[in-house]
Amino acid sequence: MRAMVQISYGSPEVVVLQEIATPSPGNKEILIRVHAAKVGPSDCAFRKGDPFMIKLLYGLSRPKFAIGGTELAGEVEAVGKEVKHFKAGDRVLGMSAKNFGAYAEYKCLSEESPLAVIPDNITYEEAVGVCDGGATALTFLRDQAKLRKGQKVLINGASGAVGIYAVQLAKYYGAEVTGVCSGGNESIVRKAGADFVIDYTREDFTKADKAYDIVFDAVGKRTFSACKRVLTAKGIYLTTTPRLSILFQMIRTSLFKGKRAVFAAAGLMQNKANLTFLMELANNGTLSAVIDRRYPLERLPDAHNYVETERKKGNVIIQF
Ligand SMILES: NC(=O)c1ccc[n+]([C@@H]2O[C@H](COP(=O)([O-])OP(=O)(O)OC[C@H]3O[C@@H](n4cnc5c(N)ncnc54)[C@H](OP(=O)(O)O)[C@@H]3O)[C@@H](O)[C@H]2O)c1
Repeated sequence: MRAMVQISYGSPEVVVLQEIATPSPGNKEILIRVHAAKVGPSDCAFRKGDPFMIKLLYGLSRPKFAIGGTELAGEVEAVGKEVKHFKAGDRVLGMSAKNFGAYAEYKCLSEESPLAVIPDNITYEEAVGVCDGGATALTFLRDQAKLRKGQKVLINGASGAVGIYAVQLAKYYGAEVTGVCSGGNESIVRKAGADFVIDYTREDFTKADKAYDIVFDAVGKRTFSACKRVLTAKGIYLTTTPRLSILFQMIRTSLFKGKRAVFAAAGLMQNKANLTFLMELANNGTLSAVIDRRYPLERLPDAHNYVETERKKGNVIIQF
């Protein structure tokens, strides 16, 4: 099979196309013929081995897993002898956060992995798009912040993958949503359902008078200290990026009843129920995929270069 293989950490060019053996499913595994995968900032971070924590976890001098990519969508090609819930021909969405491997034509996943059947009217690209960002936004808003109807929510970075699904999910849960993006992205953020849009190149939301129950910094560009001013008395600041400061602030604010700061490794907290729920929301039109660019598998380095501009809107998809 064709796979994009990475033999060292480094620039996008360390990832090269190779012909390697197609894997066979173990007894409890399914073999998926991959049709779509995604590239986001975390994939670039793993490729670079930066932050250093990645090298500590996944290999100091070279990545333990030579094929990157976590979210994938495709068709079940074969199943192991003990697989109960999937059969050849099923269209599935899956996540492989433990050993990656989405940038290859075939991938084996344990039946117990985060996996969901894709509804008939959702394409592979849409499914993987909704999962990239949607799963993270769901974990932050529903599980960490316990978002309730009528709350005021601000999403910073509303045009990114996490942000655009955070806007849609916050509306679904009945919040009043303010999206923060640059002026050129206002239309996609409004289309996603934002009630208000702030252009961060013209206005700093942390200096305005409006207070929010939840400030979700989906792109990790604003600190808890800066956002505290615009949180309600028991408001929550959520961030997708782990800094040392946020870890201290999380511990400190959890000891008191006031404003709280929260980081979560949402990518590692996914399960079948979340993916199935996201597919239901996509199927009934609550969530729509926002796909910015598509690249064929062999142009994965170009996709990485684009994602690293930090300008992508919604998802960047790898096609097979
Ligand atoms: N904790 C977790 O489990 C988890 C899971 C997934 C992702 N993440 C992290 O979450 C972050 C976001 O991921 P993503 O895929 O959503 O990112 P992304 O799509 O690559 O973000 C790009 C978007 O960010 C916007 N942006 C850039 N600078 C901005 C600023 N200063 N203020 C507001 N918006 C700005 C850009 O809009 P403009 O062009 O308008 O500026 C662009 O649309 C990444 O750091 C990623 O590693 C964490």
